[in-house]
Order: sequence, then structure tokens, then C-alpha cells
Amino acid sequence: MLLENKVAFITGAAHGQGRATAVQMAKEGADIAAFDVAKKIEYPAYDFGTNGELESLREEIEKIGRRCVVCVGDVRDDGAVTAAVKKTIDAFGKIDILFNNAGICAYAEVDKMTDDEWNAMVDINMKGPFNVTRRVVPYMKEAKSGVIINNSSVMGLRGGNRLSHYAASKWGLTGLTKSWAIELAPWNIRVLSIHPTGVNTPMNDGLAAMEGMTPEEIAERSAGNLQPVPWIEPEDVAELVVFLASDKARYADGGQFVIDAGLLSV
Ligand SMILES: NC(=O)c1ccc[n+]([C@@H]2O[C@H](COP(=O)([O-])OP(=O)(O)OC[C@H]3O[C@@H](n4cnc5c(N)ncnc54)[C@H](O)[C@@H]3O)[C@@H](O)[C@H]2O)c1
Repeated sequence: MLLENKVAFITGAAHGQGRATAVQMAKEGADIAAFDVAKKIEYPAYDFGTNGELESLREEIEKIGRRCVVCVGDVRDDGAVTAAVKKTIDAFGKIDILFNNAGICAYAEVDKMTDDEWNAMVDINMKGPFNVTRRVVPYMKEAKSGVIINNSSVMGLRGGNRLSHYAASKWGLTGLTKSWAIELAPWNIRVLSIHPTGVNTPMNDGLAAMEGMTPEEIAERSAGNLQPVPWIEPEDVAELVVFLASDKARYADGGQFVIDAGLLSV
């Protein structure tokens, strides 16, 4: 197994890519700390994870034969993040892998964007990973090993129409990735970012609903993928994250890994 006896801390784990990655990591031998806000927050107006989803994830991981600690909190809340990291260390004694995955997305025209929309986007998508990373890194430094994988987006490497706050937050995360890789390499801590195209998750469905369209219509409108698929599945992302987190990728550090069905090639 690729992650035998590793411990992974995953944000945004209740559903979507975080959940798929938690399950795949458990199948590869890892114990999981599943962190999620698990309630509807003020913005955007689509479905967030729930306590029920976190609980069913815990059961699924235990059926696989691995352990799972559930932590409820917002990545913007340093107190909740600190408590979750402590809970994980108390339960498992270490954190080998951090998947900074929690994030939000919404459309907004620049001249109509509110302070609240801008702040939520940047605070969750960019400051959130900082909040979690700074609390996890001391344990990785002590262990002189670790892997941090940040879920950016293709929008962390290009622009997007009515997505300037989202793209800014994801480019920011790319910058954090490269800078943390430089800073943490002496402790043998690798830092990487991944950049998916559209993924078939509640976020994708929610964005379509907010536009009054079906997910298929949104995919048709953006028409970005070169491969003939409207989107990719969360399990496709999970496979990449597992590989990057494993020792098979031991010299992959500081890089941006696209999983975009060819979108960024043009
Ligand atoms: N879905 C896509 O098309 C797509 C494409 C590229 C990148 N991404 C990025 O991938 C990541 C995961 O996206 P997804 O598609 O699985 O989204 P999703 O909305 O389906 O799931 C996100 C999860 O994160 C949780 N979350 C949201 N805000 C949080 C907060 N402040 N604190 C703690 N938990 C929070 C939600 O409750 C939810 O369980 C995000 O960072 C997103 O920006 C998504």
C-alpha cells in the first residue's frame, strides 16, 4: 500500500474531493483526520458538508480498517484549527500528510463584487491553508518529514470570467506552495499544489444552480477540456493526491500538478 500507517489531515473532508481523497488514502493504509465546517456558511449559497456526511465518512473509513478522527470547524477559525490539530496528534501521535482542500467558489463581476464576497473567498481559499499549515508544520518539523498538498485549481494558473476573486485566491495558494516548499525543504517537508479542471462535486452542482443552469450547460459554456469529458470525478483527483503524498513522489517538491483534461494546453 502506498500510505501504510501514515496519518493524513484533510480539510473540506465531508464531501467532494476531500472525501474521495480521505477514502482513497484509507484504502492505501492511512489514518484520517477529517476536518470540515459541516454547516451552511454565509457565502456562497450552495450546499456545504454536514455532520451526517462526516459521520458516514468515519464509518466508511473504519470499515476499510483504518481509524478516523472527525473535527468540525472553519479553516478561518484559528481556535478550531488548533484544537483539531491537537485532537489529531492526541489520537494518532503525528501528521504525515496535510491536504489543504477546503475551498469555496462563486461568480461575481468585478464592479458588483462586495467586500464580504472578496473577503470570504480570500479568507477561506488562501488564508485558510495558511491557518492550517502553520499549526501542522511544527509537528512535521519535529518529525523531519511531511507532505503538504494544496488544492488550487486551473484558476490558480490562469484567469476566469467573473472569477477574479477565486482566481486571485488560487494564484495566492500557488505562491504559498512555492514559498513553503523553499522554506520547509530543510526539514524534508515537501509542498505541492494540484490544479484540477471542473470536478463533479457539490460545488460544481451548486455553481450551476446559482447560474440557473445544469452542470452540463456550464461545462458546455466553458468548453475548456480538450479530452471529451465535461468534468472529471473526485476519485480522479484522489488518485493524484495519493500518489503525490506517497514516497513514490519523494522528489516532487514545490511543483504545480495539473489534472485538467488538457484545458491548460491551449
Ligand atoms: N469542483 C471543482 O470544479 C473544482 C475544480 C478545481 C479546484 N477545486 C477546488 O477543490 C477544493 C474542493 O472542492 P470540491 O469541488 O470538493 O468542493 P465542495 O464544495 O464539493 O466541497 C468542499 C468541502 O469543503 C468544506 N468547506 C468549505 N468551506 C469551508 C471552511 N471555511 N472551513 C472548513 N470546511 C469548509 C465544505 O463543507 C465541503 O465539505 C476547493 O478548494 C475548490 O476550490 C474545485
